[in-house]
Amino acid sequence: MDRKKIVAGNWKMNMTYEQSVRLINELKKITNTNVEIKIAPSFTNLNSAIALLDSSSIEVIAQNVHFEQRGAFTGEISVEMLKSIGISSVIIGHSERRKYFNENDFILSKKVKVAIENSLSVIFCIGEELSEREKGNHFELIKNQIINGLFELNINQIKNVTLAYEPVWAIGTGKTAENFQIQEMHQFIRKLFEDKFGAEISKSMRILYGGSVKPNNAEEIFLLDDVDGGLIGGASLNFSDFNSIVEAANG
Ligand code: PGA
Repeated sequence: MDRKKIVAGNWKMNMTYEQSVRLINELKKITNTNVEIKIAPSFTNLNSAIALLDSSSIEVIAQNVHFEQRGAFTGEISVEMLKSIGISSVIIGHSERRKYFNENDFILSKKVKVAIENSLSVIFCIGEELSEREKGNHFELIKNQIINGLFELNINQIKNVTLAYEPVWAIGTGKTAENFQIQEMHQFIRKLFEDKFGAEISKSMRILYGGSVKPNNAEEIFLLDDVDGGLIGGASLNFSDFNSIVEAANG
């Protein structure tokens, strides 16, 4: 099946307002691409990013959302707030959220539910620590992250989820997983979805790879059978690297 590739830039806690405007003005030069391009600026830059990309096909998405709809949760952002400025997708479960903000599977499944029930699409991140891989636990761990985070959704809801497999040991380290490790994990993930939701869903599900994707390795990674694009951290912060990665996905 032909799945349209996605290249999503996760800016994390980078970019002031001015830097963000500058980069977005450069990104606007990307045209004629078959790739779904998304950027996830910080909350403070979402509104201006949306305005700047008004007539562009680049989608602005959020890096996080709270699991409650509203109320006394100082410092948090709700689905309603995101939707009210025109956001329609959110990243949930990034390993940095899991690790530094104690977001466990239970919390993440609540976030997924509130997002999906309120018509936001979700990029759901999963990934193992190096220690888990060294113990040979990585398949089991990924399976549990997926079951706990997503398997309460129904068939119609799961269609609004994109997966991002990001081995924690490859994020921001310059160390990418070997191509065979990426492909075998993506294939494993697709099979889990087939067993749970059927072949049609599983074949159309997009599974992104993330973790030190750079201009020099993007093409070979994107050529792997079950890889449908990438979630890009460091290399999404400058135009030339991000553009090269989009071009690699364009084929
Ligand atoms: P990286 O980050 O590309 O800097 O490794 C990827 C991510 O965390 O999404």
